[in-house]
Amino acid sequence: MTTKNHQKVILVGDGAVGSAFAYSMVNQGLAEEFGIIDVVKERTEGDALDLEDAQVFTAPKNIYSADYADCKDADVVVITAGAAQKPGETRLDLVNKNLKIFSTIIKPIVDSGFDGIFVIAANPVDILTYATWKFSGFPKEKVIGSGTSLDTSRLRVALAKKIGVDPRNVDAYIMGEHGDSEFAAYDEATVGGKPLKTVAKEHGLSDDDLAQIEDQTRNKAYEIINRKGATYYGIATCLMRITKAILRDENAVLPVGAALDGQYGLDDIFIGTPAVINANGLASVIEVPLSAKEKDAMAKSAETLKKVTKDGLA
Ligand code: 2OP
Repeated sequence: MTTKNHQKVILVGDGAVGSAFAYSMVNQGLAEEFGIIDVVKERTEGDALDLEDAQVFTAPKNIYSADYADCKDADVVVITAGAAQKPGETRLDLVNKNLKIFSTIIKPIVDSGFDGIFVIAANPVDILTYATWKFSGFPKEKVIGSGTSLDTSRLRVALAKKIGVDPRNVDAYIMGEHGDSEFAAYDEATVGGKPLKTVAKEHGLSDDDLAQIEDQTRNKAYEIINRKGATYYGIATCLMRITKAILRDENAVLPVGAALDGQYGLDDIFIGTPAVINANGLASVIEVPLSAKEKDAMAKSAETLKKVTKDGLA
């Protein structure tokens, strides 16, 4: 954290996800200073003007089109820059394009003297979070990916609809890659302290039904992209939530893309797991006691990511 007496967030990438994140931050009254960076300067200027019109009804905020030098005393830099999936593309298909973009973004941020927390959301997010850590030379704890936050949200919403509870009270996580190899950690999931599997049965849901919900969660991005070309409100809200946990030093347990250090038998990787987030970034990883089948799914997901990381960053 810096010594200035207000909080400052810089967004890099003012596309659909970035601008939805900015709007969410304004609506939540978070960060008194908010700078927006993008290669298309007119867009950041236009968005700053548009967003400042909201402050009379939310909270005063200094919103402006920023340059990399402005990152210097930011508390958080959120990166959503990069090419997005087109219909038919997987997240991993984007790796080369977006690694190239990240190699030009991270350096000027670090050169500005930035010493806060990176939050990453461009895809493939686990690889780009790893790349941000490598390119920046920052401690691992200061680099956080959106990981499986959105997938977890999708899972909770789907389960909540079926069992008739508030999605915020479904304690279930999607873990692993934010992508096709992710999995639902159902065996440890609970609703009000009761095993989710028991609650599901009481509501007439079989294991097959739960597997189907997991599949639908995994494929939901494709469903949205096929209909409207992109996904942004869900991920933007996840980014706001992670940023809020940092700015407010919450020690919030959130599903994120976290650096592992031996947990799940893995290291040298950023991957989706519940973790504790506070002003220092990643305070700790919550190592879920996975069942044998889930451990296997986590290992397979990690293997997929490690291979792409190795090929992409070689
Ligand atoms: C999503 O899951 C495309 O990664 C993006 O919505």
